[in-house]
Amino acid sequence: MAEKREHWGSRIGFILAASGSAVGIGNIWKYPHMAGQNGGAAFTLVYLACILIVGLSIVIAEFVIGRKTQLSPVGAFEKLAPGSSWKYVGYLGVASAFVILSFYGVVGGWIIKYIVVSITGGFNGLAGDPEVAGNVFNTFTTATWSPIIYQVLFMGFCIWVIVNGVKGGIEKWSTIMMPLIVVLLVVLAIRGITLPGGMKGISFLFNPRFEDLTASSIVLALGHSFFTVSLGMGTMMTYGSYLDKKQNLLNSALWVLFLDTAIAMLAGVAIFTTVFALGANPAEGPGLIFVVLPSVFPQLAAGTLWGTLFFVLLFMAALTSAISILEVVTAYFIDQKGWSRKKATIQFGAVITIVGMFCSFSLGGGVNITEFLGISFFDAVDYLSSKYMLPLGGMFTAVFVLKRWGIPNFIEELTSGMEDSNLSSSLIRSLLTIAAGVVAFIIFNEIYSKIVGVALIG
Ligand code: PFF
Repeated sequence: MAEKREHWGSRIGFILAASGSAVGIGNIWKYPHMAGQNGGAAFTLVYLACILIVGLSIVIAEFVIGRKTQLSPVGAFEKLAPGSSWKYVGYLGVASAFVILSFYGVVGGWIIKYIVVSITGGFNGLAGDPEVAGNVFNTFTTATWSPIIYQVLFMGFCIWVIVNGVKGGIEKWSTIMMPLIVVLLVVLAIRGITLPGGMKGISFLFNPRFEDLTASSIVLALGHSFFTVSLGMGTMMTYGSYLDKKQNLLNSALWVLFLDTAIAMLAGVAIFTTVFALGANPAEGPGLIFVVLPSVFPQLAAGTLWGTLFFVLLFMAALTSAISILEVVTAYFIDQKGWSRKKATIQFGAVITIVGMFCSFSLGGGVNITEFLGISFFDAVDYLSSKYMLPLGGMFTAVFVLKRWGIPNFIEELTSGMEDSNLSSSLIRSLLTIAAGVVAFIIFNEIYSKIVGVALIG
């Protein structure tokens, strides 16, 4: 605890770091294929409603608690509710970080592999043949050691950024990479739109097809809004703890949500215009990125360039998110155990990398420690975190503000740094109550469907 707490160097640095956390594989990989399969703009509308109703309240709650306490989650809850059990919400966050980064690191490794394959012209043999591209992907991800080599490399990048600290690592790299991500996506989107037939991709993404929107799409949109905005595990709380009182938290939260959503849509445009222009299957699902695109890029003029740019931008998006996950764990050991940043990051970065290896092995390259559950360890950790851990963490954060810390204390901290400090406490109470209520229902629905066999909705 001896070290003085680091702070962000600038307001824009903080916004870029927080939106760097939000913008990740979730935006560029998950959102486009979810929207593609669940009604296009109809899904997007539900997703926007979730972000505005649930996401906004919880992002702000996390920022406020972090800034108030200047501590990462476990210490933050302990400081505001000493001696109570609320600190376990913080521990849940640290556990979620472990779980999410273990599989996120594996996917990060796949992305590096695809950069290498693209640069070396490896997509050329896949032109127009998603089946072969699918075989290449399966062979790679189900192998034992090669995905591990790339996963270790990706985790190495993460550890290196975090070891360099809040300003010299997280802020510096987010400030470099976020603008690059936007520029690359805009270039790819323009390339896609100007391809003959590319506009069909736009109507696929932006025409609402309500007939494809099922109740389970709604549940999916809500779960995704947690994942994509990095909510429910204290990431935004930890980033908020490096803020001073001068920042306008409401404004910053709106920026993060705007950038996160805009980038997801831009990714959708870049991907679907290209996919439609070349007549590939838009409803491919998770294989869209690693299977369809590698077979589509080589059909374009300068395809190696476009393919490489795409995977480089995906890498940057994944890295700025992964570092925020590792920071939750590192900050816990610094704040609560008094460890040095370097020791905490390297030791726990290594532990998470090892857990992640078991995610990778479970895809076919060795042991699957959740075999008895009938699913791969990779899917188990993804399911556990996005269906239970993040929503629970978000729900408890809202309940904490409502029931324990109190709306007046919350408003006092929120309005520090805001010019207009007349916030209606009943509005805030209602928003937080709706957020907690909706999430509680979704979790109940999931548990109910597991026990009874049918969901109440979805
Ligand atoms: N928001 C990231 C994405 O969309 O890929 C994933 C993520 C990062 C989830 C950080 C949770 C988190 F705390």
